[in-house]
Amino acid sequence: MADPTPSTSEALARLDMSLIDVMMTQRAVRRVYPDPVDDEIVMKCLEVALHAPTGANGQNWEFIVVKDYETKKKLAKRYRQAWNLYYQTVIRRVSKRDPSMAKTARAVQWQVDHFTEVPVLIVACLKLGPKDGRIPFVPMPHAALSGFYGSIYPSVQNLLLAARAMGLGASLITLPLWSVTSTRKTLGLPVSVTPCCVVPLGWPRGRYGPTTRRPVAEVMHLNTYGNRPWMGTG
Ligand SMILES: Cc1cc2nc3c(=O)[nH]c(=O)nc-3n(C[C@H](O)[C@H](O)[C@H](O)COP(=O)(O)O)c2cc1C
Repeated sequence: MADPTPSTSEALARLDMSLIDVMMTQRAVRRVYPDPVDDEIVMKCLEVALHAPTGANGQNWEFIVVKDYETKKKLAKRYRQAWNLYYQTVIRRVSKRDPSMAKTARAVQWQVDHFTEVPVLIVACLKLGPKDGRIPFVPMPHAALSGFYGSIYPSVQNLLLAARAMGLGASLITLPLWSVTSTRKTLGLPVSVTPCCVVPLGWPRGRYGPTTRRPVAEVMHLNTYGNRPWMGTG
């Protein structure tokens, strides 16, 4: 098994991993060691992230790299509040009949309980720029809203893939940001900057492995919704 806490040069060298292997084994790895992650590795993740597309090529992203204990504690408090509510109202019931959900819930609970020990939290944000017609607090039409939030997630996926290739544990999470006002206060964000998601990064305690996903034929429709001629073909 590869060293879970490699040197920076070893981690960077792992970026030559085959793309298909990276994509097929990237998954939410929530249990990580508290050992530090070198800034060079974090910057490499962000460099890869920045090669993603954005609406009108606005590149209106900002990434807050949180390493400070007190800041992590404030985000951890919000994460626990949101998770407790979500667990009590939805997840506990679903977990009773779905063992995979129960397993995920245990991993989330671990992450909530150890959030301040995660060495790096990257908060991915979007900033309103000159190319962006959005005015804060004014509802956007669907295409604009989709284009707005759609401008952060390709970069976050790139970040996750780079992290996975280097052997870092990472996940995409949104629950700690349930209160945008509180997040802005914690991170000193102006109203023009919207926090979208958090990627906790650290060296993994567990292993990466293949993910379980729905079969392609089940979600692939020809021309109109519901027309699935490939159904049952693999
Ligand atoms: C938009 C979005 C929000 C998510 N929010 C959280 C979260 O707040 N906490 C968490 O533990 N996982 C969160 N996840 C991770 C999902 O639970 C995870 O991707 C899913 O269970 C698949 O896990 P796997 O890749 O390990 O199979 C989020 C994922 C997405 C795409």
